Amino acid sequence: MDMGLTGRRLLLVIGGGIAAYKTLELIRLLHRAGAETRVVLTEAGSRFVTPLSLAALTGHPPRTGLFQPDEETAMGHIELSRWADLVVVAPATAGLIAKAAQGLADDLASTTLIATDKRVLMAPAMNVRMWLHPAVQANVARLAAFPGPGVAFVGPDEGDMACGEFGPGRMVEPPAILAAIAAELAGPAARPLAGRRALVTAGPTFEPIDPVRGLTNRSSGKQGYAIAAALAARGAEVTLVSGPVALDAPPGVTRVWVETAREMQAACDAALPADLAVMTAAVADWRPDQVATGKIKKAPGGPPALALTENPDILAGLSAAGPRRPALVVGFAAETDDLIANARRKLSRKGCDWIVANDVSADVFGADGNAATLITGDGEESWPRQSKTALAAALADRIARHFTGTPA
Ligand code: C5P
Repeated sequence: MDMGLTGRRLLLVIGGGIAAYKTLELIRLLHRAGAETRVVLTEAGSRFVTPLSLAALTGHPPRTGLFQPDEETAMGHIELSRWADLVVVAPATAGLIAKAAQGLADDLASTTLIATDKRVLMAPAMNVRMWLHPAVQANVARLAAFPGPGVAFVGPDEGDMACGEFGPGRMVEPPAILAAIAAELAGPAARPLAGRRALVTAGPTFEPIDPVRGLTNRSSGKQGYAIAAALAARGAEVTLVSGPVALDAPPGVTRVWVETAREMQAACDAALPADLAVMTAAVADWRPDQVATGKIKKAPGGPPALALTENPDILAGLSAAGPRRPALVVGFAAETDDLIANARRKLSRKGCDWIVANDVSADVFGADGNAATLITGDGEESWPRQSKTALAAALADRIARHFTGTPA
């Protein structure tokens, strides 16, 4: 796939963190996409990846210091900082972030960051406590507020860390950094949703009956995940609240795992404020009234009666959330017959702004293709059967036009 990286010049600043090994993979991906790379390696970074590995991968010895005559004669550090189309700091350690935020220039990496006239993309990597520390958060906020060309961030991710703790702080995986680089280089026109927060729900919910059984449905989550990816690719900051599915989180998207409808509702609430919400999850309408604490045994008297109780309608609740309501709320209506009329009824019953009427009479669940009609206040737009990715792109483009005010 052409990512628009052919011939583009990336200056990678590699800080001292265990995640530095992932930057080697990032360099490989960049080269495969046709980009050219040069590396500035901090003293601490050189404890994690060797200059030799970097020289072999990039075809140029990495720059390691301000006062290296041979390095400086090849290309002065100011020239190097301007050579790049984009400067990428990966891993961006707490130390590098702090120096950049304060304009402290005491080594080649930090000097480069204030000598450059190009945008800087940082991929933070540190222990969760460090990332959450108010000093680090203040530095990140300060950098994010710098005027153009400015500083952008990708990640960090949440997950297991090399130090054995869990939480936000992991450097995002190389494919996600690659996607963020491509988005940065594509420029603002390719990121019409930059600065907008989006909430997407996807997948089924799982409503436990006892510790081993539950009620669920066949939703694969593919359409919702594709929408989350399409919104993120257009610059939105996306929180994907996902029921149990077997899919990887799209690059640059923050995923929150949930099981039950009530957990999904709480996660959606926690994701507010948001500018827009796209609710694709197939939420179970009912849940067992009681969840047995032990496995329900087969008894001679026949199967147990399963008393059900209604789940909250997350979409309807969000649409009626008063001042916390996202400016644009999009629902999905899976219908087998009388598609448009039923979807229109659902639109007004749920109080959302748009509804995607999804014809599920054909093969949709778990499939890669889908057909739909978008119903908005202005009318209808029909999307013939196409891949779920293409349908997601059409919806994300329509949402972007709504926010930017560009006509179709
Ligand atoms: O009522 P129905 O399930 O057909 O409505 C579909 C739409 O409502 C979808 O956008 C779905 O994500 C949302 N929904 C919800 N919470 C529910 C049921 C449906 O958010 N409990």
